[in-house]
Amino acid sequence: MVKEATALETGSKTGVEEISVDGFDYIEFFVGNALQACYYYNRGFGFDVIGYRGLETGNRDAVSYVLRQEKVTIVLTAALHPDHAVSTHVMQHGDGVKNVAMRTRDVRKAYETAIARGARSIQEPTEVTDEHGTYVSASIATYGDTVHTFLDRTNYKGFAPGFTEVKNKKGDSVGLVSVDHVVGNVESTKLDQWVEFYSKIFGFHIYQYFDATDISTKYSALVSKVMANRSGSIKMPINEPFEQGLRKSQITEYLDFYHAPGVQHIAITTRDIVKTVKELRERGVEFLNAPATYYETLKDRVGEIDEDITELAKWGILVDRESEGYLLQIFTKPVQDRPTLFFEVIQRKGAKGFGKGNFQALFESIEAEQQSRGNL
Ligand code: FE2
Repeated sequence: MVKEATALETGSKTGVEEISVDGFDYIEFFVGNALQACYYYNRGFGFDVIGYRGLETGNRDAVSYVLRQEKVTIVLTAALHPDHAVSTHVMQHGDGVKNVAMRTRDVRKAYETAIARGARSIQEPTEVTDEHGTYVSASIATYGDTVHTFLDRTNYKGFAPGFTEVKNKKGDSVGLVSVDHVVGNVESTKLDQWVEFYSKIFGFHIYQYFDATDISTKYSALVSKVMANRSGSIKMPINEPFEQGLRKSQITEYLDFYHAPGVQHIAITTRDIVKTVKELRERGVEFLNAPATYYETLKDRVGEIDEDITELAKWGILVDRESEGYLLQIFTKPVQDRPTLFFEVIQRKGAKGFGKGNFQALFESIEAEQQSRGNL
């Protein structure tokens, strides 16, 4: 069953002061070929390319492109040499998310609090001043090889020091607005350890949780807890596989190919999901398809909605109803060779959850894909 978190499970109620973060800032991917990944997100997803660093800017070891669509910022980084940390990361994990960065007004305090509570340091607070102003950042480790950077650029014009502005690579926006949530997969029985990490170190609380009775098929199941800050600007569900099923869980498939815990999907909001998904599909972005029977029972399940069900069926968009409203969502296929990271597009119409009613339909669809990869 889905459970609302009780008072005891909230960080604030356990006396752990929350680390003050305003929200997700950027998400950085380590990839094998940043130039080609940039083309995919620029032409496929409609992101503007706004920043660059590489050989032309004096960066001899790695290349990064910064892309933005409204409030969503992604950074694509690739190494230029085999002994670079990005090369090692890509060899181990394939293309994937390295950094889920958060904005804060006090980087030192966020970092020092996290370290004092037991977080592992990746980068101590660093202040860089150049002609654009002062940029402060620090980083800590989270699950697998993933990190969180705390950053403050309120006194900095531009993305970050070392990046040159790019003006001539605008994307044709598909209407993506902001990062809604970032989901991690961790190993079996490790979920509670990471829930404790976000509650004891960040002071976040359990916003919702789902157990195997919510998300299971004949073959596999997963357990998920959603960690969030008080303002709700950060929501990070964490999944672990639940091996009651006959065959391999989709979370286990991820872990087998990522060779570590890591980011499973990034959910991005839109104000018009039909328009966004139509655009994405027409540009070649591939999505999971809902089972054919899904739309036959949709009206009985969700009641009256503003959207035309024929249109939703045409584009494969899922709907879930909660007490406070409903949400529309769809999931892409993995966006690299390995069956690891994917995206979700979500439009919220009052609903605050994660589409629990769709988990079943989604799971069946994911398993059909797993079957085709010989990984079920
Ligand atoms: Fe999601």
